[in-house]
Amino acid sequence: MTEGNCITGTYDAFNRRVNYLRISVTDRCNLRCIYCSDGEISHLGHNDILSYEEIARITRVAAEMGVTHVRLTGGEPLVRPYVANLVSLLTAIPGIEDISLTTNGTLLEAQAAELKAAGLKRINVSLDSLQPDRFTRITGGKNLHDVFKGMAEAHRVGLSPVKINMVVMPGINDDEIVDFAKKARDEAWHVRFIEYMPFDGAGAEPVLTVSEIKDRIETSAGALWACCLNGAGPANYYSFGSGEGTIGFIRPVSHRFCGQCNRLRLTADGKLRPCLLNDLEIDIRSSIRNGGGEAELKALLRQAIMAKPERHYLEEAAVGGRQMRQIGG
Ligand code: GTP
Ligand code: 5AD
Ligand code: SF4
Repeated sequence: MTEGNCITGTYDAFNRRVNYLRISVTDRCNLRCIYCSDGEISHLGHNDILSYEEIARITRVAAEMGVTHVRLTGGEPLVRPYVANLVSLLTAIPGIEDISLTTNGTLLEAQAAELKAAGLKRINVSLDSLQPDRFTRITGGKNLHDVFKGMAEAHRVGLSPVKINMVVMPGINDDEIVDFAKKARDEAWHVRFIEYMPFDGAGAEPVLTVSEIKDRIETSAGALWACCLNGAGPANYYSFGSGEGTIGFIRPVSHRFCGQCNRLRLTADGKLRPCLLNDLEIDIRSSIRNGGGEAELKALLRQAIMAKPERHYLEEAAVGGRQMRQIGG
């Protein structure tokens, strides 16, 4: 078993370097996406949620242990007031090189400039349909145009790259795969196709694999060539050979990428979650609120890193505890 601190990360029990912290700033969301909501929704109370100062304190300790990349998620992170203030606090932490955010884009237009000014570098936008009516149906009533305005403003202020996350759902939006791919080919979008993860019931949903998605794109939009794009996540990128746009594939199901897992998650209510698809959590909020010092926080972070499972077990067992909405992907 290897455990070590090095200048660029702390190694887990499977010799994976953990240098990426995903921070969920709220469990609330202004959308009700069909694959994400569980009908009746209860929310964390104000006192349950870590304050921005508490999040910054945990991140500072994580940075001392080698975390260099931070991503803010939700719920929808932009429903929490003054997220730009949190970005400013995180920007000031020595060692944090990259701060990014994953959003549904509907509230982005009004906040993009202040997020950029606070130090946010780049943004990923979840977008599952390019058809206004379908978008409204999938999200439970929102307007696709607001997302487009948010993306345009993000580009304008220099948040770069703006990546689009499309969760491919057979029978719901898979007929739009080629339309999304053409946005990459013709309009320089960075589009990532994500295999749907059957979160609440092992193997419950049929999954369209990345190789099928890639086949459809190459048949209708042209050949794809392997390339790179700035990022710290599990996507593999391709281009059409010309133009600036890219296609990314994220395949948690057909090609488990756990062997390269570099991340730890912090939930809005202050639990360290070693794996997206595993219910184990370690409470760090109690420590921070009961006067725990830096050594104690470090020990909890190390415990969470060492508790990272070798891989997910999606095929064998459902993820029982939280919904995707509460973890932030
Ligand atoms: P960058 O590459 O740095 O841009 O970030 P990212 O792709 O990790 O971030 P994003 O929030 O856009 O994540 C994209 C999707 O990848 C998520 O919605 C999840 O579906 C999936 N994903 C991200 N991290 C994990 C992970 O640790 N495990 C699994 N199984 N899926 C993940
Ligand atoms: N499988 C794959 N991706 C999912 N997301 C939400 N639920 C799932 C799922 N079951 C994605 C969202 C967003 C990111 C945070 O997680 O679309 O891009
Ligand atoms: Fe890491 Fe768990 Fe995601 Fe696998 S499923 S990449 S172990 S967080």
